[in-house]
Amino acid sequence: MTTFPTTFPAAKTFPLRGGPVLRWGILAPGDIAKDFVHAVHTHTDQRVEAVASRSLGRAQQFAAKHGIPRAYGDHAQLVADPGIDIVYVASPHSEHKRLALLAIAAGKHVLVEKPIGVTADDAREIQAAATAAGVFAMEGMWTRYLPQTDVMLQLVRDGALGDIRLVAADFATIAPTDPLGRNYNPALAGGSLLDLGIYPIWISQLFLGAPARVNTFGSLTSTGVDAQTAIVLEFGSGAQSVLTTSLLHFSPERASINGTDARIEINSWFVVPAGFELIAPGKGNTRLSYANETGLEFRDGIAWEAAGVAQHIADGLTESPLHPLAFSIEVMETMDAVRRGVGTLA
Ligand SMILES: NC(=O)c1ccc[n+]([C@@H]2O[C@H](COP(=O)([O-])OP(=O)(O)OC[C@H]3O[C@@H](n4cnc5c(N)ncnc54)[C@H](OP(=O)(O)O)[C@@H]3O)[C@@H](O)[C@H]2O)c1
Repeated sequence: MTTFPTTFPAAKTFPLRGGPVLRWGILAPGDIAKDFVHAVHTHTDQRVEAVASRSLGRAQQFAAKHGIPRAYGDHAQLVADPGIDIVYVASPHSEHKRLALLAIAAGKHVLVEKPIGVTADDAREIQAAATAAGVFAMEGMWTRYLPQTDVMLQLVRDGALGDIRLVAADFATIAPTDPLGRNYNPALAGGSLLDLGIYPIWISQLFLGAPARVNTFGSLTSTGVDAQTAIVLEFGSGAQSVLTTSLLHFSPERASINGTDARIEINSWFVVPAGFELIAPGKGNTRLSYANETGLEFRDGIAWEAAGVAQHIADGLTESPLHPLAFSIEVMETMDAVRRGVGTLA
């Protein structure tokens, strides 16, 4: 059994200010695009220079509201803008691959909201195009860049948990039921799995890697997207992950990483800046509490991801060392298997 730590290792994160600066262009000015601009303009030196919508009026409105210099009513015009270094794709899932390929073809770096595509093949196609073009490409899995994620990984690498035997995580919310909206519309690749379930699967694969077997139990909405799904992943070591996601109820959005010596419990929303508990049941429930003292809450945490991407590109990288495309592809392979299990993928 390892020694229980008395303090936490310092989080290694990218400095929010003072590093390289990118000129960002946004495709699809919706809810997350709004939070992205707020996070980077409030907490980093990164600048959003242009936004494109399918409607010039909507792009102009978004630009005026968020202090963005240029607005386009056509995605192709934004990716051709020589004053843009990197394109952030914030559309519904069904459009991620198409818009990512559009940006890559124009020679732009690209950060694509999660999931990077609808299937693992989409992710492979984006990887191939970015590699051929020599541009940077990454899926916007911003939780990977949060301080607590780095501290948890250091604890695991230092052996504080022993052998990990179980990852448990949930992410569910009652989503808008508009059959044409992005949550319930199969044409926009709706469903809880691609939208929310990706986070429990991501945290499982961060600590246990790709599963040997994927078991799924689930139901569909009347529109034909996945409504509520329970996933049990099995690993060669005998370890398991028990993960749930749904559009039909709220959940605590907790995660726990359970080892033979100790466990990590994230008892608040685990995808955003959060604290956690390190607990050793075999040592009288010895406990060490990690608090989120960064001052950044909720989606303002996206700032670390944007600063990290700017540093990767300044370092001449074409993929993130923290969240490489191979990892996105592995997660998408699990999601493909889950969707085959619930009947939303042939
Ligand atoms: N990282 C996170 O924490 C987080 C949180 C929420 C969502 N997301 C991800 O962000 C993405 C967008 O989610 P959201 O909640 O921001 O959605 P949203 O509010 O519906 O916004 C999406 C935007 O995409 C555009 N759009 C809609 N249909 C389109 C189509 N068929 N083709 C091209 N553009 C289209 C719309 O802009 P125009 O009509 O003006 O073109 C719309 O404003 C999803 O991938 C989601 O998974 C990430």
